[in-house]
Amino acid sequence: MALSCFSSKDTDIFDVMSRRRSTRKFDPKPIEEWKTEKILATADTAPTAGNFQGFEIFHVKDEKIKEKLVKAVNNQPYVNSSLVLVYCKNPSRVKLDFPATTLKKFAIQDATLAAAYSQLAATVLSLSSIWIGMINEKKVVQIIGTKLVPSSILCIGYPTQQKLSKPRKNLAELIHVLG
Ligand SMILES: Cc1cc2nc3c(=O)[nH]c(=O)nc-3n(C[C@H](O)[C@H](O)[C@H](O)COP(=O)(O)O)c2cc1C
Repeated sequence: MALSCFSSKDTDIFDVMSRRRSTRKFDPKPIEEWKTEKILATADTAPTAGNFQGFEIFHVKDEKIKEKLVKAVNNQPYVNSSLVLVYCKNPSRVKLDFPATTLKKFAIQDATLAAAYSQLAATVLSLSSIWIGMINEKKVVQIIGTKLVPSSILCIGYPTQQKLSKPRKNLAELIHVLG
């Protein structure tokens, strides 16, 4: 299904960004397959170092694996949402002639951007998400059966309530103008 089924307000990038809010309470209803595909495809539109796509995504469908993941993320219960995506770093995909430490840094940035793009795609699709950064990496690696280190988990689903924007610090406190 094309995005043409949305109004221009639904897809206005600034409106989408201001509507995105972390959600920890989801309706258990499943997410349409085409929406899942769109979220995954959007992840792959994010910029990556050298365009080498130094990340991989594990789409967790198995409810038992989700239960194990809940325990591996400090018992955060929302990790059983309809769509659970584990974003992993894969520095070996980044074929650039730089030290391993640099490639690792690139891979974490690649995986992070991919997840951030996915969150925005979810918002356009009337879904909501929560970013899980509190991860026991060793446990998650074991549970999903990979050697790749996870950087974040996105739990996505239909929100049970619409939230207003969260207050932020004054922008001036975050911006340093040089010159
Ligand atoms: C790096 C990072 C790690 C996070 N880890 C968690 C987490 O483990 N559990 C959680 O409930 N929220 C987590 N969050 C979500 C933040 O709490 C949330 O984004 C923040 O409070 C701002 O709220 P908003 O997303 O609604 O604007 C994380 C967000 C980021 C970017």
